[in-house]
Amino acid sequence: MCEQHAHLQPTTNPYSPAGRQAKRTRVAPARPLRIALVGKGGAGKTALTAMMTRALVDSGRAGRLLVIDADPALGQLSALGAKTRHTMGQIRETIIRTARAGHKDAKLELAAKLDYMVFEALSEMDHFALLAMGRTETLGCYCPVNDLLQDAIEKLSGSFDTILIDGEAGLEQINRQVVRQLDTLVIVSDPTSRGLETAAVIKQMVDGEHIIACKKLGLVFNRVVGNEALLKESARAIGLDIFGFVPHDEQIAAFDLVGKPITSLPADSRGQAAVRQLVDTCILA
Ligand SMILES: Nc1ncnc2c1ncn2[C@@H]1O[C@H](COP(=O)(O)OP(=O)(O)OP(=O)(O)O)[C@@H](O)[C@H]1O
Ligand SMILES: [Mg+2]
Repeated sequence: MCEQHAHLQPTTNPYSPAGRQAKRTRVAPARPLRIALVGKGGAGKTALTAMMTRALVDSGRAGRLLVIDADPALGQLSALGAKTRHTMGQIRETIIRTARAGHKDAKLELAAKLDYMVFEALSEMDHFALLAMGRTETLGCYCPVNDLLQDAIEKLSGSFDTILIDGEAGLEQINRQVVRQLDTLVIVSDPTSRGLETAAVIKQMVDGEHIIACKKLGLVFNRVVGNEALLKESARAIGLDIFGFVPHDEQIAAFDLVGKPITSLPADSRGQAAVRQLVDTCILA
């Protein structure tokens, strides 16, 4: 086992008899702070997650940080300058293949190894760890497999203080495959009516508690070029608080164009400065 992972020792498998017993009697660990970013496609979730990662690390207040790339296209990897050995999607495929093959011993062996497999999928960067959800090739609903993997992520989360999730447009995939509860949901919108429409739909889902439980909800306008008064008014109209405004910043686009990690934006980046401020005032406050 990699030494860097020493604090992440896997524990009893929840699906073994001993694990099921432990699950019934387990005292819940102090939960980490869970933050997820969602919003319209292309609104800037991946870029903002990378800038928030940097702001959280630099703040010195995030403790052990786990970034989860929940985008099947693995956009977060290049934004963070990271590589992964395997994804949760690949682990899911292995489980489904083994279950279909139907060999009892192989299934038991897999159940015993599951925590290790998830834990091996973690990439340790200098100041944070990264888990990539990736895509799965097998179509169909495999709820028991999703539950199994979600429990493993849940257990892994207990070893971290802060979890930051780069999500998709909606909440369903986070709820089905990543976590069931959030502390803070950041809805990212570009300054367009389509971005705001998506934000309004997400807010309705959270209000109705249809998809995911979440304590704090707010909007970040990204790629802003003036018109802040109008944007404030639009956010008020759909009943959303504003966490912050991130300006259009050519440096972000230029870094993304050549695949340079967004986490290494220069100190004078206007985008990074705005993200630092919103992390300080709305995420860690
Ligand atoms: N503040 C900004 N200023 C300039 N360009 C930006 C800014 N934020 C994001 N971009 C650019 O906008 C594009 C989309 O950003 P990003 O990939 O982060 O969006 P996304 O919401 O993650 O998209 P997807 O839904 O496809 O995952 C990228 O080319 C990125 O470089
Ligand atoms: Mg993205």
